[in-house]
Amino acid sequence: MANIVAGIACSHVPAIGVAMDRGVTATPYWESLFRGYEPARAWLAALAPDVGIIVYNDHASAFSQENIPTFLIGVASQFTIADEGFGPRPVPSVQGHPELAWHLAESLILDEFDMTIANAMPVDHGLTIPLSITCGQPPAWPFPVIPLCVNVVQYPPPTGARCFKLGQAIRSAVEAFDRDLRVVIYGTGGMSHQLQGERAGLINREFDNAFLDGMTKNPIALTNITHTEYMREAGSEGVEMVMWHVMRGALDENVREIYRHYHVPASNTSAGLLILENEDAL
Ligand code: DHB
Ligand code: FE
Repeated sequence: MANIVAGIACSHVPAIGVAMDRGVTATPYWESLFRGYEPARAWLAALAPDVGIIVYNDHASAFSQENIPTFLIGVASQFTIADEGFGPRPVPSVQGHPELAWHLAESLILDEFDMTIANAMPVDHGLTIPLSITCGQPPAWPFPVIPLCVNVVQYPPPTGARCFKLGQAIRSAVEAFDRDLRVVIYGTGGMSHQLQGERAGLINREFDNAFLDGMTKNPIALTNITHTEYMREAGSEGVEMVMWHVMRGALDENVREIYRHYHVPASNTSAGLLILENEDAL
């Protein structure tokens, strides 16, 4: 059977990709952020998962304000890189895993999660930056990816509790897949940041670090954080952190924290990276 062996949470700040694409990661501004990514890359390369499920949000790249799916799963065999205004990032296109993706779509929908199904869509920085952070700059991404989008750009996003339950349902679905696959799941976005308005530039280290601690040790308590609390404590875009709950819900109650990196600032954002492994990981 297939198994979720580990979870990765990480920010998806577009400027991180720009720094990599332009080869300036060793400059004083970026050096310590990227040094902190090296252990994560080594860990993931050693783990060599068969598939990644990347939970992220589309930033009005694939979907305009005309259509806003709350939860969406990409079932295509390939996903192009979105042009977010400066041309597509110079990174490999993303290979999907239609077999597992369709199995997940069926299982999740029958489990009462009303997923939108995407047969074609470009993927934006929400998905490509976490791949760049954890895989570096390979000529092709090392594993196929199932994109799973969560709306966090238009009120109302789903609650953290609902996202956690989606993660639990993803886990059940993966474990019911009749092939030996080792799956990693990413929750992306955050941490605290606000890109616009009077509080633009807001960072809350205390909130972020408590969130990182809670992700490892007491994830259920974190699912009670309301949208208003995210907005107040982590800024308007900090609400992206609800997507971390999907990842966490897909793991065991007790996990091993393999690695953590927290850095302020990356662009306007506090960048977090957390790696958790199930106790019984293969
Ligand atoms: C930034 C962060 C984001 O999460 C995003 O989607 C866009 C921009 C930033 O800090 O610049
Ligand atoms: Fe974002």
